[in-house]
Amino acid sequence: MKNDKVYIFDTTLRDGEQAPGATMTQKEKLEIAFGLERLGVDIIEAGFPISSKGDFDSVLEVAKHIKKSYVCGLARSITKDIDAVIDAVKPAKHKRIHIFLATSKIHLEHKFKKSQDQILDMAIAAVRYARKRMDNIEFSPEDASRTEKEFLYRVLEAVIKEGATTVNIPDTVGYSTPAEYGAVIKGICDNVPNINKAIISTHCHDDLGLGVANSLAGVLNGARQIECTINGIGERAGNASMEEIVMAIKTRADYFKLNTQIKTEEFYRMSRMVSKATGFLVPPNKAIVGSNAFRHESGIHQDGMLKERRTYEIMNPEDVGVPKHEGLVLGKHSGRHAFSDRLKRLGFKLNESGIDAAFVQFKDLADKKKEIYDEDLIAIVEDNVTQNKETIRLKNLVYTSGSHVKPSVTVTLDIKGKTVVKESTGDGPVDACYKAIATATKIKASLLDYSIQSVSQGDDAQGEVRVKISVDEKTVLGRGASTDIIEASAKAYIYAINKALMNKERMKK
Ligand code: KIV
Ligand code: ZN
Repeated sequence: MKNDKVYIFDTTLRDGEQAPGATMTQKEKLEIAFGLERLGVDIIEAGFPISSKGDFDSVLEVAKHIKKSYVCGLARSITKDIDAVIDAVKPAKHKRIHIFLATSKIHLEHKFKKSQDQILDMAIAAVRYARKRMDNIEFSPEDASRTEKEFLYRVLEAVIKEGATTVNIPDTVGYSTPAEYGAVIKGICDNVPNINKAIISTHCHDDLGLGVANSLAGVLNGARQIECTINGIGERAGNASMEEIVMAIKTRADYFKLNTQIKTEEFYRMSRMVSKATGFLVPPNKAIVGSNAFRHESGIHQDGMLKERRTYEIMNPEDVGVPKHEGLVLGKHSGRHAFSDRLKRLGFKLNESGIDAAFVQFKDLADKKKEIYDEDLIAIVEDNVTQNKETIRLKNLVYTSGSHVKPSVTVTLDIKGKTVVKESTGDGPVDACYKAIATATKIKASLLDYSIQSVSQGDDAQGEVRVKISVDEKTVLGRGASTDIIEASAKAYIYAINKALMNKERMKK
């Protein structure tokens, strides 16, 4: 039987969200889940339902809406975790439970203080319990790459016998090398007698920067599912990046002789969506989705490109959805029809009121900026799609600043329908602005990080500000774009405060 399909299991919403500071709202998670479904992901790991009420609700919400992809929830090998997943994924058309239990010596001795036999019994009991109510079961021996081989084979054989349909082999601490990890997968294929009854999956962390290489070594040696995240986000240094893995398999089909069902043209948009929701910037040199990934600077390269693109480009930017720079996309005089048509071509499906709201912002931007690029339109839509009616909004901002003037800012905010105006001075205009917002909202936050980059090209490009703030000892990230960098700074700060408030609400439930 030809067995060249690799299943893509996305864990952006679970392992990805475990990245410090990457908390996402339920709305953002649902939006990402829709994006992943559009992308053609086979399985979406939507969360860890037992970990909080908010996580349970997010998995439930994803399960209610996603129709094509499998919706999966994570559980420890404990009955209450398994019950929580079964309840949370219940509405899904296609559902899976992912049960894990550490098997390496170091985890057994220090974390559990249990023997191998006791761990084996726990794994068997957990899968047996889940199997009574679910038929799609994935089992992960956590820290598998550092687990004694003979014990790993015993655990896998036992859980498959109990009904596990996928066995995932985590390189939990990103310690393996490609040759080693490939050998672990091959060893499993050769030594687990009933392995033909399950799909082998990879789950490689990126602590040594080898997550993608290890995952690919895994599929070359018999794995047929890869667990990964958009932009490679995840615990510590992150997980293997989906866009890199899938484009490696696609671009080097001659070598891998494998395929996925991923619609790669969605990658750019997906990467932006996740970056915005988490507040994590995509480095310019990031493979596939970084802003420099398809830019050619050297004269020799540019000359080669003009003669024949393939001299210096191994992939088509359009294949990963990088917007084409078609010069002026839209301008001040463009009408609503041209605007909504362009959004459609960029892949956005907004309802009439969504288009109206975005169009007002577009006109506002067109008054300030001559040339509106696709990236500007994407930033506008992203702002609109995720705005939350009941939260805080910036209505107006006035500031004075200069070399010999004490910076002063007046902000007008809409706080749950009430207009609040506050003024403050500060060390600089951004500082003054943040002090004014703090007084208006009565929320004490400390600014941990601030960065700015341009959204598109040209002297009048929009600035995109990212902030990391701490509210009640919890870190949240925010993002805002505008042609005015003080306004972008205010939007980013307000975005982060809104997120902190939503997190607080979520924890209260
Ligand atoms: O890295 C890991 O081991 C995990 C497991 C829960 C699969 O994320
Ligand atoms: Zn992990």
